[in-house]
Amino acid sequence: MSALFNPFTLKGVTLRNRIAIPPMCQYMAVDGLINEWHRVHLAGLARGGAGLVITEATAVSPEGRITPGCAGIWSDALAQAFAPVVASIKAAGAVPGIQIAHAGRKASANRPWEGDDHIAAEDPRGWPTIAPSAIAFGANLPKVPQAMTLGDIARVRQDFVAAAARAREVGFEWLELHFAHGYLGQSFFSPHSNHRADAYGGSLENRSRFLLETLAAVRQVWPGHLPLTARFGVIEYDGRDDETLAESIELARNFKREGLDMLSVSVGFSTPAATIPWAPAFLAPIAERVRRQADLPVASAWGIDTPELAERVVTDGQLDLVMVGRAHLANPHWSYYAARQLGIERPAWVLPAPYAHWLERYTVN
Ligand SMILES: Cc1cc2nc3c(=O)[nH]c(=O)nc-3n(C[C@H](O)[C@H](O)[C@H](O)COP(=O)(O)O)c2cc1C
Repeated sequence: MSALFNPFTLKGVTLRNRIAIPPMCQYMAVDGLINEWHRVHLAGLARGGAGLVITEATAVSPEGRITPGCAGIWSDALAQAFAPVVASIKAAGAVPGIQIAHAGRKASANRPWEGDDHIAAEDPRGWPTIAPSAIAFGANLPKVPQAMTLGDIARVRQDFVAAAARAREVGFEWLELHFAHGYLGQSFFSPHSNHRADAYGGSLENRSRFLLETLAAVRQVWPGHLPLTARFGVIEYDGRDDETLAESIELARNFKREGLDMLSVSVGFSTPAATIPWAPAFLAPIAERVRRQADLPVASAWGIDTPELAERVVTDGQLDLVMVGRAHLANPHWSYYAARQLGIERPAWVLPAPYAHWLERYTVN
């Protein structure tokens, strides 16, 4: 019996297996509005057999987009555009999830294939950025953000709450707060980006405050029977890893206390000076530490792209949920392929019947 293809229940939601499509920005929206590309992309991935499909980082405000092409959910009209996405993911047997986000000092950038750098100051496509402190990320992202006032902090928290309510309204059943990858949430936590002298900077408690307050406020509007998760970079690979990891585990415990149901363990990406030890499943042992020490279910991604590796990280108790991103872009039926590779005799249930009926009799080469 495969551990990867064992159903997974979190709160009132059961996934058909332990495979999730992680959020992957498409940079194809216009003024935050998603379109036919997003619909075909997400429906195709759901059809391939994963248990959970999480939409790309979806901005809670226009200023919170990474690029002008990023998706948004700051109005009811933008949220409604997700209704067909939700319906098609469910029709394919997967659970629809959404990641809501604010890019902080990494906002106002060009798309990856158009430079992946900050939009030039004189370019009207760009916009002013905000962050805990007026410190630029550096390297390709040199724009200096405005330090947020207490009013800004309250407004962004409220933007997350409104986004969560809209996500629920349109039918999403799984919510992920994007607190990772050097974006706004992560930048409050990281000493690389937070030099504040008030209640939101300095001590671990203060650097955690924005994240915990936002989580608690969202929990008020997100139904108790549906999973509320966060993605967070628990490690930076900047030479201070023991300290960062210890602080992150403390944060994870506090997340749990405030009602978080699962942590998606990732890398901080708070400084261009990091040396990341890229390798297959390199984060899985770190995720397992968080899982054990914070006593919280965990998901993770990064280079878990063979069926055997995906199976192993679940069997070994490192991850509860395996996020498989780029391998699904290469082969949207990766989940079905994994079931076949792992020798599941009747993987019919991985795909909807009209596909499965024929493919059981057909050898995929
Ligand atoms: C095209 C693309 C877009 C991405 N966009 C997001 C995003 O919106 N939010 C996020 O948390 N991670 C994002 N990521 C990171 C992925 O969720 C995932 O962690 C990463 O691809 C590593 O997993 P993999 O090795 O299975 O691809 C993106 C990755 C790719 C390739």
